[in-house]
Amino acid sequence: MPVVRGKSIEPLFTAEQIAERNREMAEQIAAGPVKDLLVIAVLKGSFIFAADLIRSLHHTGLAPEVEFITLSSYGAGTESMGVRIVKDIDSDVHGRDVLLIDDILESGRTLLFAKELLYERGARNVTIAVLLDKSVKRKEKLEADYVGFECPDYFVVGYGMDVAYAFRELPFVGVVTGDA
Ligand code: IMP
Ligand code: MG
Repeated sequence: MPVVRGKSIEPLFTAEQIAERNREMAEQIAAGPVKDLLVIAVLKGSFIFAADLIRSLHHTGLAPEVEFITLSSYGAGTESMGVRIVKDIDSDVHGRDVLLIDDILESGRTLLFAKELLYERGARNVTIAVLLDKSVKRKEKLEADYVGFECPDYFVVGYGMDVAYAFRELPFVGVVTGDA
């Protein structure tokens, strides 16, 4: 089992599995009705997935514009739980077909916030691609249009995702199982 920073990490989805799935998802997206695409990656967790998926989109012939939004949750577990914009996009989304890319769809709060925000700003159509869907944790009525893998209810790291700022650099998705 890989050991990183003194911790054992059990791989859940390998780099090869992810690469294969990214190609399939890109084909699915390209087969959809969207041609003049604005991709918005939700930072920070999606940065590696977005980079890989966008390159896979290129191989399908799509030429998306790319934007980034940094969102953050606050008040976890309290009445005032919500999502706020840490850094906004620069583009006008009015009339655009937008593909939101995120690492994990869990409660759905983050992506519901982002989707509603973009529709309020006049986007024509907003679809969602996530690498992982932890559907057992859903709290909002929201589904992704494109899902890489159904994710078991573990806290996962790697491929952009962190725990306490660590492990984003891993080329695979895994679970921290303990001290090595
Ligand atoms: P949601 O608003 O509950 O859907 O939150 C999803 C966000 O929580 C993701 O974009 C991640 O940033 C974070 N997150 C949820 N589960 C995990 C995990 O297992 N590992 C790392 N980050 C996670
Ligand atoms: Mg996130």
